[in-house]
Amino acid sequence: MTFDLKVTDSKTKARAGKLTTDHGVIETPIFMPVGTVATVKGVHQRELKDEINPDIILANTYHLYLRPQTDVLEKAGGLHKFMNWDRNILTDSGGYQVYSLSANRKIKEEGVRFKSHIDGSYHTFTPEGVMEIQRTIGADIIMAFDECTPYPCDYRYAKRSMHMTHRWLDRCINHLEKTPVKYGFDQAFFPIVQGSTYKDLRQQSAEYIANAGAVGNAIGGLSVGEPAEEMYAMTEVVTAILPEEKPRYLMGVGTPINILENIALGVDMFDCVMPTRNARNGMLFTAHGSINIKNLKWREDFSPIDEMGITFVDTEYSKAYLRHLFTVNELLGKQIATIHNLGFYMWLVREARKHILAGDFALWKDMMVKQMDNRL
Ligand code: GUN
Repeated sequence: MTFDLKVTDSKTKARAGKLTTDHGVIETPIFMPVGTVATVKGVHQRELKDEINPDIILANTYHLYLRPQTDVLEKAGGLHKFMNWDRNILTDSGGYQVYSLSANRKIKEEGVRFKSHIDGSYHTFTPEGVMEIQRTIGADIIMAFDECTPYPCDYRYAKRSMHMTHRWLDRCINHLEKTPVKYGFDQAFFPIVQGSTYKDLRQQSAEYIANAGAVGNAIGGLSVGEPAEEMYAMTEVVTAILPEEKPRYLMGVGTPINILENIALGVDMFDCVMPTRNARNGMLFTAHGSINIKNLKWREDFSPIDEMGITFVDTEYSKAYLRHLFTVNELLGKQIATIHNLGFYMWLVREARKHILAGDFALWKDMMVKQMDNRL
C-alpha cells in the first residue's frame, strides 16, 4: 500500500491524499460504508458501486468469524469473491465488537473470552488468532486487536488497558510476520491508538503506535459517549504525533459534523454505522440538517427527498412517498433511506476533498457545520 499526500490545508490540518492498494485507489478523506456481515445493509453491491461509489467498505472480523465462519470464506477464495466486491475492504479486528458485549466477555492478557450473541457458545479471541482470521477473510486493510475502553473510564484502568493493547500490538505484528497472505494480494496492517480521554495516555499511545512503523495508523476508543469537544481534543493530541506521511483512520466516527471537524484535525479515514443504521429508523442526513421522515409534517410534502442529493433516489421519490413507506413498514423505505444517507456521506467527504485541494476548506467547513446543525 502506498499513500501519496497531495495537499495539506494551510489554515487547518486537513489533508487530501491518495491511497493505492492491490484493489485500487482510495481518495482521502474517505468515508467507508459499514458492511458488518458481508453486506452494506439494504444496498446491492451494484447500487453501492454505481450510485454511492465508495473506494472502500468495512466488514467485521467478529461477525464473519461467527457467521458464515472462516472455513466458508476460505473456500470462497476470500471475502471479495464471496460478496462480489472487487474494490477495497477493511476489516475491524473485533476489539470493538467484543467490547460491546460488556457482560458477556472476560478480558485477560492472553485474549478475550466471549459468549456469542448468536447461540451463546464460548470463544476466545487472541491477537494471534484474530490475525489468522483476518488473513482468511482477506481484506486489503486489517486492524490490530485492541481493547476499546468505555466512557467514562478511570485513569488506572485506561492506563493498564492501553499498555495491554500495546503488548497485543507486538503480538499481532510478530504473528503477521510468520503468516503469509492467502489470496495473492497485499494486506496493510493498521495499529490502533487507545488511552481513553487522558491526554498523557493518548500521547504515550500515539508515540508507541507511531514507533511500530506501520503503513497506516488508527485512533480508537472515541465516540463511545464522550462529549464531542473531548473527542476533538484527543484527536488533536494524537494527530500531532502520528506520522504525517501515513494515513490516519478514526474508528467509528461519526455524525457529518464530527467528520468535518476531525478532517480539520488531520484525519483521513472514517467509518460509522450512523448513515445506514439511522436510515433504517427513518433518519435522513442532508446538507441543511437531519430529517425524521416518519414525522407527520412530511405527509403531503411531494418535493424530492433531497434536491441536492447525488443518488437517483433523491430526485425520483418524494418525501411524502418515503414517509408512507416507513408508515407501512415497507422494506423499500429502508433501502431508499440507506442509499440517500450513504450518498450524502460520500458527497460530504468528496466535497471536503475538493475544498482542501482548492484551498478554502476552513471557510467551507465552518459554513457546513453551522448549516448541518439543524433538525428539519
Ligand atoms: N471501532 C470504533 N472504535 C474502535 C476501537 O477502539 N477499536 C476497534 N478495534 N474498533 C473500533
